[in-house]
Amino acid sequence: MNPLIFNTINYGNKTSPVIVALDFADEKQTLLFARQLSPDLCQLKIGKELFTASGRHLVEQLVHQGYKIFLDLKYHDIPNTVAAACKVAAEMGVWMIDMHASGGQRMMEAAVEAVSKYKQRPFLIAVTVLTSMTQTDLAQTGIDRPVTEQVLHLASLSQQSGLDGVVCSAQEAAILRAQLGQEFLLVTPGIRLATSFNDDQRRIMKPKDALAAGSSYLVMGRPITQSENPVLLLEQINHGKI
Ligand code: C5P
Repeated sequence: MNPLIFNTINYGNKTSPVIVALDFADEKQTLLFARQLSPDLCQLKIGKELFTASGRHLVEQLVHQGYKIFLDLKYHDIPNTVAAACKVAAEMGVWMIDMHASGGQRMMEAAVEAVSKYKQRPFLIAVTVLTSMTQTDLAQTGIDRPVTEQVLHLASLSQQSGLDGVVCSAQEAAILRAQLGQEFLLVTPGIRLATSFNDDQRRIMKPKDALAAGSSYLVMGRPITQSENPVLLLEQINHGKI
């Protein structure tokens, strides 16, 4: 089964592949922005800054408005602690949660077990190697193999541990798709439109190209949040026009 058909919003006969990164500093700005959109246009991502500022209350408000929320807190802790955090997130009605694959198989399995009892359980995905890390950064942590090999290794470990997918760059999507099969979710940030400025992102791809390369979901922040017409942009992406 195409993973996009499972547990996602219907966009007409299709689903929206877009997860909009709500990289705002506070609840007020976030809710003003979310009011312009609707849950059938996209999913929303809440990261560490916004969650630290506004926490559970904001997540629950957006869930209540019908949005599917990717809680991007990148858990990395002992299995019992990560499992407990995943359980709370599932109870809040979160749609997707992430954790560091380097927390190990037992940590990931504990997370899977913790959410397995929920009827509408959240997707669990893993971060392999942070895209900000270079070969030198990796070596400093004691890992001498090439970054791509380590990404593949941790992505396979995530799959063996029962996770639903990984966060990766769209440029890694083709190789991961080939190695890990059609069902595994590949969630890709670093998406830019032809006309948009690249900001601080380096390894970038257009929405259509990333989907063609095997990406399941596109994480998009500034190209949408700083656009004059976010709804039009989302409709164009959802219809495969850009
Ligand atoms: O504004 P932009 O489209 O660059 O936002 C991308 C979002 O995806 C941000 O929330 C960023 O933190 C997140 N992200 C990323 N690269 C990763 C993982 C997450 O840009 N490897």
